[in-house]
Amino acid sequence: MRHYLDVDALSAGELAGLLDLADVLKAGRGPREDLAGRSVGMIFEKPSTRTRVSFQVAVAELGGHGVVLNAADLQLGRGETIEDTGRVLSRYLHALVVRTHAQSRLEALATTATVPVVNALSDAAHPCQALADLQTVRERAGGLAGLTLAYLGDGNNVAHSLLVAGATAGMRVVVASPPAYQPDAAVAERAAALAARTGGRVLVTADPLEAATGADVVYTDVWASMGQDDEREDRVAALRPYRVDADVMAAADDDAIVLHCLPAHRGEEIAAEVIDGPSSAVWDQAENRLHTQKALLLLLLGEPGGGAT
Ligand code: CP
Ligand code: NVA
Repeated sequence: MRHYLDVDALSAGELAGLLDLADVLKAGRGPREDLAGRSVGMIFEKPSTRTRVSFQVAVAELGGHGVVLNAADLQLGRGETIEDTGRVLSRYLHALVVRTHAQSRLEALATTATVPVVNALSDAAHPCQALADLQTVRERAGGLAGLTLAYLGDGNNVAHSLLVAGATAGMRVVVASPPAYQPDAAVAERAAALAARTGGRVLVTADPLEAATGADVVYTDVWASMGQDDEREDRVAALRPYRVDADVMAAADDDAIVLHCLPAHRGEEIAAEVIDGPSSAVWDQAENRLHTQKALLLLLLGEPGGGAT
């Protein structure tokens, strides 16, 4: 029994295998029976479009039963602890997918849950997103190791998991953010330690054009994440120079692709002409949430040895 609280729960080999399986599941999409008789709970303490629907459909297409739980409708909203919630839900469900605030809430849940806990986004990490991101890069560029991914903008949960995922896959990940909004130094160090083993590299800079120059992948995310709306004005002022626009794309490699985990704010963190232009792979990226999450569920819940393909 294992949890998936961030990407480094997977070894480099497991990550590559998961992406291979996601490709197989994408190519042969259709009903399966892998999760027949099993139920997966999904607790949302924040809003979601993609994660909620793609997990629900993933479970259904694998033959399982999905139970979507809005936190406000649970006793969690009336003060029941996350630990007790984990103890009880483990008696009904076979996995728990959870979107929440502090990463420590997921860690607390993982101490009492006796079924796999999957991080469906926390303030610190978005490891399910990073799987879809890598699948998209791989299908567009044919590989991952040695490629440069430039992330411009807020050094947030998405940036954190990309740092760890890219480093695990042997990529060069460059994050450009203003000094007040750079990724957590501890996460950058964790990623750098992984990169040292895989031949990847990790770099944090304040210079957006330095990051974008020659990049194979240009990535951005919202400037104010869920829970940060009251900081919006300050964030927009500080992050404006990090917008992914035509100038940024002109600095990147000629064949560079653009990714955004969505939801997007055109004219804010990304120019409309970029997200809606020929370099954009964001709709494939959103679709790949479905395939990579199926592969993840099979890894966590499937028969030993895979039995999955
Ligand atoms: N990218 C992503 O996680 O989207 P949702 O917030 O809509 O799930
Ligand atoms: N960083 C964003 C990602 C949304 C999918 C947030 O946490 O709101």
